Amino acid sequence: MAKVFVPKERAEGETRVAASPETVKRLVKEGFEVVVETGAGRRASFVDSQYEAAGAKVVSGDAVKAGWAEADVVVKVAPVGPNESVGGHEADAMREGAVLISFANPHQELAGVAKLRDRKVSALAMELVPRISRAQSMDALSSQASIGGYKAVLLAAAKLDKYCPLLMTAAGTIQPARFVIMGAGVAGLQAIATARRLGAIVEVSDVRPAVKEQVESLGGKFIDFPMDESGEGQGGYARELTPEQLKAQQAVVRKRVLEADVVITTALIPGRPAPKLITADMVEEMREGAVIVDMAITAGGNCELSEPGETVKHGVTIIAHPNLPGTLPLDASLMYARNVQTLLLLFGKGGEIKLDLEDEIIDGALLTHDGKVRHAPTQQALTGAQS
Ligand code: NAI
Repeated sequence: MAKVFVPKERAEGETRVAASPETVKRLVKEGFEVVVETGAGRRASFVDSQYEAAGAKVVSGDAVKAGWAEADVVVKVAPVGPNESVGGHEADAMREGAVLISFANPHQELAGVAKLRDRKVSALAMELVPRISRAQSMDALSSQASIGGYKAVLLAAAKLDKYCPLLMTAAGTIQPARFVIMGAGVAGLQAIATARRLGAIVEVSDVRPAVKEQVESLGGKFIDFPMDESGEGQGGYARELTPEQLKAQQAVVRKRVLEADVVITTALIPGRPAPKLITADMVEEMREGAVIVDMAITAGGNCELSEPGETVKHGVTIIAHPNLPGTLPLDASLMYARNVQTLLLLFGKGGEIKLDLEDEIIDGALLTHDGKVRHAPTQQALTGAQS
């Protein structure tokens, strides 16, 4: 009977947990023995007794170290890091050959990846799960981005100095708020839908022409800008624009941004720094009281003036929260835990671990295995960092 360990997250500001009482129950039914560190779900509003009722063993003190060391599978949210309860780094606390399911943030957490490699851990990185239809229920990037997009709009609306909807009152007509949303991927589409529900006017920019129809079906207005070639890159993602193309885009969106009450930016390029879409002089020219929510801050930000947290620049509030999904920890954990459960059951049928490297999903998500880094861009980055 394989053992699954669910530790308490130690990363600063991480409120989520990788297993919920619901998924623990399912895993126990499948034949796994599930061990949960005491308090692991507390910030997501799950208490120890709910995990126990679902069939898990809840451990504390020295048993936490044993939980790490004896697990066949460790499930986590944030990349492995230092942890006082194991007296060092989490990767070193795992046994050789064990499986880790977690976000790995491989481009930025190279030292952690190297530790997982050296420890011969089979690390499945949630962000590397291929976005094929069979893997949709394991797609944690989507489940979490969607929460982020929703919350970004709520934060902006709460900070804004005016109403979002059009209101006709005895005291006169109030004009609706104008939102500009940059990047209409999973987060951006949810932001459009949420802003429209609040009654705002929503204008949207993206470099992938395919999203125009999706934007319009949600009631957003797509900002067309001429490009000599599509901004679509590999795997349905965007590619990095040339400096000239980026300038052309800035010129087109500039007018909309300057008239906006709220700008929400979600633009990302896989493995690259986030494109700078909102320049410092645009912020300077925006109206006092406007709000920018920069969802790309962990990749460097889409706005030149963004800093992690909340700042005010030229009278414009810039909210750049590094973990928006973590501000809705209950639903974020419920969804993430289901993503993790589906991935685990792909190679853990009947509570027995069998990693099939021929499976497209396992092959794509497996970051380290058998003492090697299997993800080519991360391996290249590691080689570059060492030379
Ligand atoms: P993402 O988080 O990598 O990027 C967010 C958005 O920013 C994308 O729409 C991208 O085109 C846009 N962007 C990049 N550079 C930009 C720029 N200079 N200006 C404006 N926008 C810019 O993307 P996300 O949300 O993770 O997914 C992108 C797409 O992947 C989805 O829309 C969908 O087509 C596909 N996808 C497929 C899935 C499946 O088949 N299972 C699941 C999820 C996504």
